[in-house]
Amino acid sequence: MNRLTTRIGDDMITEKTVFFLLLAALCAGASGGIVHAAGDPDAGKQVFQACARCHGPALAAEANRQQPVPRLGGQHATYLLSSLDAYAGGKRKHAEMERIAGSLSQQEKEDIAAYLAQFELKQFPIPGSGDAPAAIATIIENCRVCHGVGGNSFVPDYPRINGQDEQYLLEALKSYQNGARTNATMVYVVKNLTEQELRDIAAYYAGQKGGLTAINK
Ligand code: HEC
Ligand code: HEC
Repeated sequence: MNRLTTRIGDDMITEKTVFFLLLAALCAGASGGIVHAAGDPDAGKQVFQACARCHGPALAAEANRQQPVPRLGGQHATYLLSSLDAYAGGKRKHAEMERIAGSLSQQEKEDIAAYLAQFELKQFPIPGSGDAPAAIATIIENCRVCHGVGGNSFVPDYPRINGQDEQYLLEALKSYQNGARTNATMVYVVKNLTEQELRDIAAYYAGQKGGLTAINK
């Protein structure tokens, strides 16, 4: 066995993966690790009515969409809160979401996050989850350290990406390359990936069954 290679369980962990594992631990530590939002889902459902025109049934129907809209059902509350804070603070750029998130109180944000997080994933955890296409298999191995098997992350700071809208995933990945989103880890992770690799990655995670859902209620 190579000096830089250790066997942990069934996984062959390379030096690069160890780097990502360390990065993962650091990131989780920096943001306080596992935190549960103290929101009220029933109150969140009421506030979410204002979001439904984009994130609601129209999203499910995928009708009249001018831009990709993320699926929010089953997303971690902690990540939802941090993304709303990023828009509200102008750190994540998107004119409409900046305005909308900026108008919410802390309690409303927590309530909405609690409401959205309670949409259970249809399969949890995803058994097997299908293999990534060979061209991106090694890349996916590194993503798995934080985003979990098939994108079904179990760490609340790391967004679930399984079953996410394919076009949205592609745009999100590109946003870390073009500077619209600045999360240092993600910028580092995607900086050398080609357009084709990003497309393959988006298709792979979007195709994971039983992941994030559109809100239909
Ligand atoms: C006009 C349409 C529209 C409305 C209304 C809207 N959103 Fe969004 N939302 C979007 C779009 C488009 C994005 C993706 C923006 C981007 O690329 O950063 C987004 C992104 C998000 C994200 C980030 C998800 C992720 O995976 O990172 C969250 C969370 C979110 N919206 C919550 C809300 C909430 C809560 C409301 C209501 C209070 C709301 N949105 C209202 C269109 C909308
Ligand atoms: C060390 C941990 C870590 C690794 C490794 C990692 N990510 Fe991430 N990822 C994150 C964090 C944290 C965020 C949220 C960043 C933010 O708020 O912008 C994120 C965000 C994302 C998003 C945006 C999700 C959304 O809802 O908008 C996508 C897509 C994504 N990662 C895909 C990947 C892919 C593909 C890989 C492998 C090439 C990868 N990530 C590797 C931690 C990681």
